[in-house]
Amino acid sequence: MESPTTTNTELFENQPGNAYFCLHEDDICLLSFGVEELYSEEYLRWMNDLDVTKTLGRFDYLMPVDRAKLVEYYNEINRESTIFLAIYLKGNSSSDQIKKADMKFIGTLKIYDIDLLAKRASLGIAIGDKLEWGKGYAGKAIRIASQYVFEVLGLRKITAGYIASNVGMERAFLKNGFEIEAIFKKHIYFEGQFVDHKFVCKFRK
Ligand SMILES: CC(C)(COP(=O)(O)OP(=O)(O)OC[C@H]1O[C@@H](n2cnc3c(N)ncnc32)[C@H](O)[C@@H]1OP(=O)(O)O)[C@@H](O)C(=O)NCCC(=O)NCCS
Repeated sequence: MESPTTTNTELFENQPGNAYFCLHEDDICLLSFGVEELYSEEYLRWMNDLDVTKTLGRFDYLMPVDRAKLVEYYNEINRESTIFLAIYLKGNSSSDQIKKADMKFIGTLKIYDIDLLAKRASLGIAIGDKLEWGKGYAGKAIRIASQYVFEVLGLRKITAGYIASNVGMERAFLKNGFEIEAIFKKHIYFEGQFVDHKFVCKFRK
């Protein structure tokens, strides 16, 4: 991993994004996305992997991105309405104590557009490590984050959106009790065509 410069470290150390945050269930752990993840080789690799970025809906990520671009993105996150998290896979250690060094950084999860008046928030997720696709990790991360949004933040509705052909994303949300709320027809430009954008939601019970 590249080390952040002293200036970068000073810049980040007081940001709330670096506050301690740890939610875990089974083999998945959600931690604050901080400087360590921002400067990790993994994050830079994922954000330059078209298989990962093409369905994110961020067209500026369809071209190669450098570390400075990722740092800019991180710095521009609105901390009042966004919680940016790193998804870690716990090791096989049977110890009760979770150590970051024993875990594998596999993706990111963003709780964003937190609206305390309307009491809702949105979720965005990327499992950057393609070796870990199809193992249920997105589904588990959504379950943990949803529980946090409803039970800790006390919000009443969660929304998410994805390109209609993103079957993995749809299944991960539907199996967590989300329902399809809207389909915007031919709304997104994707691989040379205008495709539908689906929106799902879940209300607190
Ligand atoms: C979409 C994404 C988050 C799914 O993550 P994942 O950890 O592989 O998802 P899960 O393993 O929890 O899969 C949930 C379900 O979808 C299925 N699934 C996953 N990927 C699939 C695919 N490409 N095609 C068909 N089914 C798929 C899984 O088998 C699982 O089905 P099951 O519940 O019946 O067993 C991941 O592929 C990813 O990060 N892609 C790139 C970024 C992205 O598209 N993010 C979403 C932007 S809105």
